[in-house]
Amino acid sequence: MKSINWGIMSTGTIAKKFAATISRLGDTGKVLAVASRSMATAAEFAAEHGVPRAYGDYDALVRDGDIDVVYVATPHSHHYENARLCLEHGKHVLCEKSFTVNAAQSAALIALAREKRLFIMEAFWTKFLPAYGLLAGELAGGAIGAVTHFRAQYGFAPTGARYVRKFDPALAGGALLDIGVYALGVAAMVLGYRPAALHSRAVLGEYGTDKFDSIMLEYDNGATAHLVTTIGSVIPTEAAIFGTEGRIVLPEFTALQEFAVVTGNGERTVKASFEVNGFEYQIRETERCLRAGLTESPVMTHEQTLAVMGMMDTARAQWGLRFPGE
Ligand SMILES: NC(=O)c1ccc[n+]([C@@H]2O[C@H](COP(=O)([O-])OP(=O)(O)OC[C@H]3O[C@@H](n4cnc5c(N)ncnc54)[C@H](OP(=O)(O)O)[C@@H]3O)[C@@H](O)[C@H]2O)c1
Repeated sequence: MKSINWGIMSTGTIAKKFAATISRLGDTGKVLAVASRSMATAAEFAAEHGVPRAYGDYDALVRDGDIDVVYVATPHSHHYENARLCLEHGKHVLCEKSFTVNAAQSAALIALAREKRLFIMEAFWTKFLPAYGLLAGELAGGAIGAVTHFRAQYGFAPTGARYVRKFDPALAGGALLDIGVYALGVAAMVLGYRPAALHSRAVLGEYGTDKFDSIMLEYDNGATAHLVTTIGSVIPTEAAIFGTEGRIVLPEFTALQEFAVVTGNGERTVKASFEVNGFEYQIRETERCLRAGLTESPVMTHEQTLAVMGMMDTARAQWGLRFPGE
């Protein structure tokens, strides 16, 4: 198969990180084009990242017949509309998290991709990190006995315009869709994607979206999880898995490169450093799937995306939080 041509939709923070990552990888395709709502911004991004083609609207990107796959890096409020545009024009899609605003939108996108035999995957980059492969091996090997509890916390404090943007209901703002998705996604990786029950509370901020979230999960086998995420307060990104014979501590669990296994026999650290910045693994997985003719990654499946979106719908229903248009 020829080299894969990527298109990037948007020129924001994470779009820049994506372009910078791919330019450092020798074994993947290239970013052929970038699109912004503004031509000047697209041109500036293209010049900065050595991208050959720049477009001043998203439509032009999906009409470029040389683009194979589009990385959708717009706010989550727009993922449904933007990913749909890509699929309708025959493009495969890697779409940022949260995949969409709600599970119904996710299901509609997945159904469209299946109908058109196109690949679509949520860019839940954390799941592809090598350290999580090692962690799965530790858990399966019984390093801490039977898992009984998972705990995660993550909080950051943006300022100025970024603070307002992070909470804007029109952009599906709030902690849950921005970072709660990481805590839920990793809890699901450890304990399973089908908890028996979800109990949650949130403190809503001045823009009517969630500032502080506390989510408890309950599983049929008796295991539990407690997840705390917030925007507005810096809380170290940290998680821990508790078992009948010890615990595993995950510092920086969203960007995991090492973890500590603590048992009665002492403590040992397991390490798996990134080659670049951690984004390389989801990029390679997307390309592997495209080359294999897959429409779904076996690593981050459609069902898993739908399950996490469903948990977020349940949490928001418990808080009475709806976004415009829902
Ligand atoms: N995987 C990760 O580590 C990670 C980290 C951060 C964010 N994310 C996810 O990636 C997505 C983008 O986040 P970000 O932090 O990159 O956001 P950002 O810096 O605000 O950039 C978003 C970009 O989307 C485009 N856009 C289109 N419609 C827009 C609108 N109505 N309002 C504002 N921007 C609009 C803009 O690009 P143009 O003006 O060029 O069109 C803008 O620069 C979010 O879903 C977020 O959750 C993922």
